[in-house]
Amino acid sequence: MNANRKLPWDWHDGQIPENVFVDNDAYVETSFSFHLYRAERERAVEIRRGASTYLGTMFDVGPAGRVTLGEFALVHGARIICDQEIIIGDYALISWNVVLMDTHRLSTNPVERRRELENVPLRKQRFLSNQCVPCPIHIERNVWIGFDSCVLPGVTIGEGSIIGARSVVAESIPPFSVAAGNPARVIRKIDNHESQTD
Ligand SMILES: CC(C)(COP(=O)(O)OP(=O)(O)OC[C@H]1O[C@@H](n2cnc3c(N)ncnc32)[C@H](O)[C@@H]1OP(=O)(O)O)[C@@H](O)C(=O)NCCC(=O)NCCS
Repeated sequence: MNANRKLPWDWHDGQIPENVFVDNDAYVETSFSFHLYRAERERAVEIRRGASTYLGTMFDVGPAGRVTLGEFALVHGARIICDQEIIIGDYALISWNVVLMDTHRLSTNPVERRRELENVPLRKQRFLSNQCVPCPIHIERNVWIGFDSCVLPGVTIGEGSIIGARSVVAESIPPFSVAAGNPARVIRKIDNHESQTD
């Protein structure tokens, strides 16, 4: 990233927002990943040493949201919807089309949803506002999340665990487990010899 916060290789004519920290040894493929970004906190996104985000990754971070991408973590085209906190641990691998959401954003009440939709055209930026209480997501170190999966608010995925492709993770998954399906259930544990993560 150069002094004016542009990426020299970027196809999109954009900048990395001021309150995003990108380590010198981290990689962000395109500033388009911040097209939906509205975060206002200091260091609202931290992309640490050796971490990478590739095409298709979207940081849909609301004003109070905070996202941390740990060392050598790799996000290959996920949508990160964050109104409170999403922590992605060191060496985590998030495959394409994964959705991590710490908020459902819209109310389950149809009257409130309708009111919100009527307000969208009145806003300068036609974003939906958050109608829900967010609940943090924690993806611990060495986790691998398979493609097209969805991780819902309040979920922790324990160290070293694997989430199968196209899973919906509605409840926390213990460490060193393989979980899959909708809703995701543990299908096996990972043996000690497979779980040396240091
Ligand atoms: C989760 C995964 C790693 C499991 O691999 P595995 O341990 O070899 O498991 P198996 O293939 O032996 O399957 C075990 C059981 O889980 C089921 N299962 C496996 N993956 C599943 C999935 N994604 N969704 C639902 N069920 C799944 C199998 O059908 C099988 O069920 P059964 O015991 O009733 O026959 C693998 O299936 C997967 O989804 N990998 C993701 C790959 C990916 O996203 N790659 C992107 C590149 S970054």
